[in-house]
Amino acid sequence: DAVERGEYRHYMQKEIFEQPRAVADTLESRLGPHGVLPNIFGVGGDELLAKVRGVHIIACGTSYHAGLVAKYWIEEFARLPVAVEVASEYRYREAVVPEGTLFVAISQSGETADTLAAMRESRRRGYLGTLAICNVPESSVVREADLKLMTRAGPEIGVASTKAFTTQLAALALLCLQLARQRGLDDGRYAELCAQLQALPQTIGRALALEPQIVELAAHFIPRHHALFLGRGAQFPVALEGSLKLKEISYIHAEAYPAGELKHGPLALVDEDMPVVAVAPNGPLLDKLKSNLQEVRARGGELIVFADSAAPMDGNAARGHLLRIDAGGEFIAPAVFTVPLQLLAYHVAVLRGTDVDQPRNLAKSVTVE
Ligand code: G6P
Repeated sequence: DAVERGEYRHYMQKEIFEQPRAVADTLESRLGPHGVLPNIFGVGGDELLAKVRGVHIIACGTSYHAGLVAKYWIEEFARLPVAVEVASEYRYREAVVPEGTLFVAISQSGETADTLAAMRESRRRGYLGTLAICNVPESSVVREADLKLMTRAGPEIGVASTKAFTTQLAALALLCLQLARQRGLDDGRYAELCAQLQALPQTIGRALALEPQIVELAAHFIPRHHALFLGRGAQFPVALEGSLKLKEISYIHAEAYPAGELKHGPLALVDEDMPVVAVAPNGPLLDKLKSNLQEVRARGGELIVFADSAAPMDGNAARGHLLRIDAGGEFIAPAVFTVPLQLLAYHVAVLRGTDVDQPRNLAKSVTVE
């Protein structure tokens, strides 16, 4: 055990630091100098993807959050409608499936009972085809799908998923790029997005170097019972994933909200005992987010802001704690911002002395309903 963990204290920490390698492996032989290589989803994959008119994504837990990021990506760049749903809901409701819809199952293990059942149910619902994004080649989800794209995260031991998530994002980014190119995304934009994705391993590597600052931030959470995570756009699912990590391993109650919803409820909870973590990338929504943060500050809430280095935001504007991150471009920013949130949850849990790799009541893979 100690030998496998090497210099790291827990598997989770080791897996967080393996992300540059895991993402590079997932992109290897799939993303070339001129873009996504042919048929990386399997024989006949590109032909099938060219017929897609909409996408339904089904998953559970962290994998569901990856699907939510993909919705923002695919709708923006490929201009296809995308619906994302947790498998335990999808399998029992009468979902409407428009013609030409692709069913995508995302699962680290490929054995999650609800995801597998949803996939079997989808067979009766008239999809164009099924695609599995999965980390285990011999798993049931992969065996039963028409198309597949394996994440190459390697074995993930920590119950709280980390490298599986960022490799899922890498795989979904490839899917988005392929769909977008087939639907006429302009060459220059396509090349720019491919370049961002190609640089993702190094960009994640730079985010990992922030660990010492995050250890300091983590100390603020030790006496807390609650925390609020805010994001907008494709950073909203990142906020969801950050709050899930914190609750899973530190047992602090955490919730995530799209920052614009703050005024419709959670603002009532904000006081000096409620730290508010915000993910603030650079982009058209930055000013909106800043005014949401202003509302938190006015109520005495302690702010912890992760901001893109390129975002015009001075320390004063954040007041509280501001950590700058080189997000490497708007497209891949969700994958990059995930990393400091993983580290935050990890160090809070370590400081609180919980069983980081095996949190109470949770299982790595939930193979029964
Ligand atoms: C469990 C794990 C989570 C995981 C979820 C879905 O709840 O603890 O980390 O995200 O299952 O698992 P899957 O293997 O389908 O991605």
